[in-house]
Amino acid sequence: MALDDQPITDVHAAQREELLAGLLTPPRFINPKFFYDERGSELFARICELEEYYPTRTEISIFSRESAAIAAAVGSGCELVEPGAGSCEKVRHLLADLAPSAYLPLDISRDFLLDAAQRLREDFPALEVRPVVADFGSAFDLPEAGARRVLFYPGSTIGNFEPSAALEFLSRAAALVGPGGGLLIGVDLHKASEVLNAAYNDSQGVTAEFNRNILRHANQLLDADFDPEQFEHVAFYNAPAQRIEMHLESRIAQRVHCEGAVLEFAAGERIHTEYSHKYTPQGFADLAAQAGFQPRGCWLDDAALFSVQYFEVDSL
Ligand code: AVJ
Repeated sequence: MALDDQPITDVHAAQREELLAGLLTPPRFINPKFFYDERGSELFARICELEEYYPTRTEISIFSRESAAIAAAVGSGCELVEPGAGSCEKVRHLLADLAPSAYLPLDISRDFLLDAAQRLREDFPALEVRPVVADFGSAFDLPEAGARRVLFYPGSTIGNFEPSAALEFLSRAAALVGPGGGLLIGVDLHKASEVLNAAYNDSQGVTAEFNRNILRHANQLLDADFDPEQFEHVAFYNAPAQRIEMHLESRIAQRVHCEGAVLEFAAGERIHTEYSHKYTPQGFADLAAQAGFQPRGCWLDDAALFSVQYFEVDSL
């Protein structure tokens, strides 16, 4: 389907419906994809600069240091597909060595995506950039594959999924790339709880503001009247479950109005906003194997904080 023919209004109606459904009945939940309105994206960019938040700079350091080895494993000339590509920044660290035949960034923020794609074309004139407005979680169409497909999924976004949903994502990824296709993925690693707790409870309170901002976004999408200041940022590493949990805890008993509905919050009641699952390299490879992905490469930083892993689906 041509980009201009895509039913973008349907995408947004479905998003609103999903957001409301999670809020209506306890245990209340907002999908972390709703963090990223304009202000949320700015706050996330600030998180990535924080001393305590190691994942982004560590992943980029792995891409930079290992880009030749990664390119050797992945092979040149592939069609690189990136779900939730946003600003298309990370792929820049790989393009010189990887030399894909085409790059297909997917995102639901149309204007943001098209701007990012245009900037990328300017900096890499030889690269064919084909943006697709789509939510990887829903059904969508891709242009017919022009070459072997490799899915690029950096940032440990996979950590947002619970293991069962991560497996579903990986299975969809395997189906999308097909036999001989690949998956290049950034996966944050299990480590000392103190390091993880600090990364999600930074001393400047940027993560707290990022968490609360999801309520501003909900206000805008659902015409709701959340007062973000009446919710407290709660984040902790649940070590047995190997995940960071983020919640917004109601400081008081309060009512919130939302698309004609009234949400009653008890004091101390929480809205769950994010999981960020952490893996061991082997633990993640085991999960990927269940989706049919064979390990082909795994690169870590010296402190083993973060991993970049490459898998392929066996050829027929
Ligand atoms: C973008 C999902 C990888 O889980 O670390 C950062 C988001 N949340 N601080 C993460 C996030 C709070 C981030 N991911």
